[in-house]
Amino acid sequence: MRQRFSLTALSLVLVTSLHPNSAAADDAGQVPVPTPRNIPPPTVFRTKPIYYNMASATLQDLENDFTIECKNQTSISNGTIKLGATQYCWFPGLIYKHNDIWYGRTNVTMRMTANSGLATAFARGNEKGDEIDYEWVGKNTTTVQSTFFNMGIHPPERKHSVFSPASPDKPDLSKTFHTYTIDYKMDIIEWYINGKRVDAWANDGKPGRYPTNARELKINVWNAGSLYPRWAGKTDWTKKPLGEAEISALSFEPYIYEGQNTAPVPSSAPVPKILPAVTSYVSPSAPTNA
Ligand SMILES: *[C@@H]1O[C@H](CO)[C@@H](O)[C@H](O)[C@H]1NC(C)=O
Ligand SMILES: *[C@@H]1O[C@H](CO)[C@@H](O)[C@H](O)[C@H]1NC(C)=O
Ligand SMILES: *[C@@H]1O[C@H](CO)[C@@H](O)[C@H](O)[C@H]1NC(C)=O
Ligand SMILES: *[C@@H]1O[C@H](CO)[C@@H](O)[C@H](O)[C@H]1NC(C)=O
Repeated sequence: MRQRFSLTALSLVLVTSLHPNSAAADDAGQVPVPTPRNIPPPTVFRTKPIYYNMASATLQDLENDFTIECKNQTSISNGTIKLGATQYCWFPGLIYKHNDIWYGRTNVTMRMTANSGLATAFARGNEKGDEIDYEWVGKNTTTVQSTFFNMGIHPPERKHSVFSPASPDKPDLSKTFHTYTIDYKMDIIEWYINGKRVDAWANDGKPGRYPTNARELKINVWNAGSLYPRWAGKTDWTKKPLGEAEISALSFEPYIYEGQNTAPVPSSAPVPKILPAVTSYVSPSAPTNA
């Protein structure tokens, strides 16, 4: 998969103008760098979208597709899944557990957790240190950061994470639900909030500048205060509740490229075509066509 992007037609999209407030360098200098994992590329790809309507899904349904961390602090009720952090289990989250996805559009309707030290993350990947994220730090509930890494590194012009206000009126993102999209294609990554594009990064085909292995999918809360206190603030363990993120909808629409049905595409040739979408949604208990 590595160097197969001879992107002549797709030039680099300049994202500068899409960054309303670049992160304070001081803080951003500490932005967490993913720990590389080495999950092998899928050999068979999921072709059907995932669609979870929390109003009808159960924890058991979610467990068909996700590993639930800190499960005893996770619940589904009133149409949402709550990920509650405690001092004893401070990394509640959902991690997609089948190795059958790669490129695709993920939408998560959620609210972040408040409270200093706790970070909320919605990420694709960290295989080989490749990762695409939304990150929220609980000490600042009016901003979200978008970022990505190639092998644990940002391209120089994207050294720092980006703060993207969800809307001009700066709602409290720990109290209001918004739909965050990571649209991950071979040639471009686009971040949308409530359907509005807030950030983008195109694959210019040069080595080290594009995450090509960000296959994992996870949404979680974690104690960032222990490792990155300047970025996330110090964790106050006496807070009760310590922190809680909440998800009301979750979907993943895979992009299956030519040649990907059975195996990763060989390392030559331009970006292959995305095959036509599969239109029927797979849902645990309530099939939905969104
Ligand atoms: C569900 O909603 C009802 C009515 O708003 C509320 O009383 C109850 O506490 C909620 N349950 C949970 C677990 O949030
Ligand atoms: C949840 O389970 C973890 C690990 O077993 C434990 O440390 C933690 O105290 C539990 N949380 C609650 C709220 O019981
Ligand atoms: C959150 O971050 C934004 C952008 O950097 C800043 O304007 C705002 O004052 C911060 N809020 C808090 C509570 O620190
Ligand atoms: C995901 O969000 C995008 C907007 O960012 C929207 O166009 C698309 O229909 C959504 N997909 C699903 C399955 O909800």
